[in-house]
Amino acid sequence: MTDTATTADTVAARDARTGPVGVGVIGAGVISDQYLGNLTKFPDLEVLFVADIDEPRAAAQAEKWGVPGSGSVDELLAHDGVEIVVNLTIPAAHVEVALKAVAAGKHVWGEKPYALDRESGARLLQAAKEAGVRVAVAPDTFLGSGIQTGLRVVRRGDIGTPLTGLTLFQVPGPESWHPSPEFLFAYGAGPMFDVGPYYLTTLVQVFGPVAKVTATSSKARETRVIGSGPKAGTEFPVEVPTHISALLQFENGASAQAVFSFDSKLARAGFVEIAGTEGTAVFPDPNEFEGDTVVHTGGEEPTVVPASGSTFTRGTGVAELAQAIREGRRERVPGELAFHVLDVMVSLAESAERGEGVVVESSLEPTPELPEDWDPSVPTLG
Ligand SMILES: NC(=O)c1ccc[n+]([C@@H]2O[C@H](COP(=O)([O-])OP(=O)(O)OC[C@H]3O[C@@H](n4cnc5c(N)ncnc54)[C@H](O)[C@@H]3O)[C@@H](O)[C@H]2O)c1
Repeated sequence: MTDTATTADTVAARDARTGPVGVGVIGAGVISDQYLGNLTKFPDLEVLFVADIDEPRAAAQAEKWGVPGSGSVDELLAHDGVEIVVNLTIPAAHVEVALKAVAAGKHVWGEKPYALDRESGARLLQAAKEAGVRVAVAPDTFLGSGIQTGLRVVRRGDIGTPLTGLTLFQVPGPESWHPSPEFLFAYGAGPMFDVGPYYLTTLVQVFGPVAKVTATSSKARETRVIGSGPKAGTEFPVEVPTHISALLQFENGASAQAVFSFDSKLARAGFVEIAGTEGTAVFPDPNEFEGDTVVHTGGEEPTVVPASGSTFTRGTGVAELAQAIREGRRERVPGELAFHVLDVMVSLAESAERGEGVVVESSLEPTPELPEDWDPSVPTLG
C-alpha cells in the first residue's frame, strides 16, 4: 500500500469516528491552565495527553487537571485517540509543531499568532488541505457572549450601515506580570502580533476582509526588565516595535484606526468602537469573553445591550471545532481567518518599515454568529 493510500485510509477511519473528540495539548505553560480548566469541562471533548519539551512540566499539568497521559510531542502525536492537537507553544514554534501534527493526520487548534510570516502560514494551510485536516487558530474570544452580542447588534442593523472602526490597546508592557516575557518582545510578537489578533479579528468580523493598510511604528526602549517570577530583575532585549499606529481600509469601503502599544504608562485597553450611519456601538474588550455592548444613537442615554451567550473562556473554539468535525461542517474559527489576520499584521509591519501603503492580498468570508443558546458544557456528540 502506498503512503498516500495509508494516509487516506487513516483519515477515512478517523472521520468515521463518533462521540467525544480526543484532544492532546502541546505546551504546558502559563495559558495551559485556562485551556485545561475548560477543555476538561467540555463533554464533547476528551483530553487524553499533555506534552511539552519540558516533560516534567507536562506531567505536572496532566496530574493537576486529571489528564491520563503526558510526555513528549512524538508520544502525543503517536496517540491514536488524539484527533485535535491544541498547540499552546511559543509563537516561534507554532508552525513547526502544527506541521508535525498535520503530518500525523491530526486536526490542529493553535494559539495566536497563527505564524510569524505569510510563507510559513500559507505552507501550513496547504499542508492541512492536502492531509484532509483542519487548522483552526485563536482567538476564540469572539465566540464569547461579549463580541457575539456586539456582532448581533451590528448585523441586525442597530447602528445602520457600519462605516468606521476605532480600537485602542495601550499598556506599559507584559514584562511586569509574565514570568518569561522575552518571547513577547521577540520577532513575531510585540503588541501587534500579541494582542492585534483580538482587535483585528473583531474588525474583520464586522467589516469583512481588509484590502489595504498603512502604519507607523516605534520602540520606546532597547531593553526591558522582567518584573515577576524566578527571573525577576533580568534585563532582556526588545527586538520589535512596541508602538504601532494602524490605518485599515476594508474591501467594502469602510475604514478603521487601531493603536497597539506596550509603551504607555497609562493603561487603556479593550476599546472597540464601530460607528455606523445610525449610531455607534461600543463593544466589550475583544480579549475577553464577556461584557455588554453599548449603543449610542444621539439620544440622552445610550442603550445597553446585555451580553448573551457562552461565558466559557479559552478553549471555546476547540469545542466548536470538535462539533464542526463531527457534523462535517466548516468551523467558525477557520485557518483562513487567522491567515488573513496574519497577512494584515505582516502588511502593517511592512507599511511601517517602508513608509507606504501595502495591499493585502488574502481575503475571507466572515463567520456566522453562534446560536445565542450555544453552550459548550452541554453534550452534543453522544
Ligand atoms: N499567557 C497568556 O496570558 C496568554 C494569553 C493568550 C494567549 N497566549 C498565547 O499562548 C501561547 C503560549 O503562551 P504562554 O504564556 O503559555 O507561554 P509559556 O512560555 O508560559 O509556555 C509555552 C510552553 O511551550 C513549551 N514549548 C515551547 N516550544 C515547544 C516545542 N517546540 N514543543 C513542545 N513544547 C514547546 C515551553 O516549554 C512552555 O512550557 C503563546 O502563543 C501566547 O501568545 C498566552
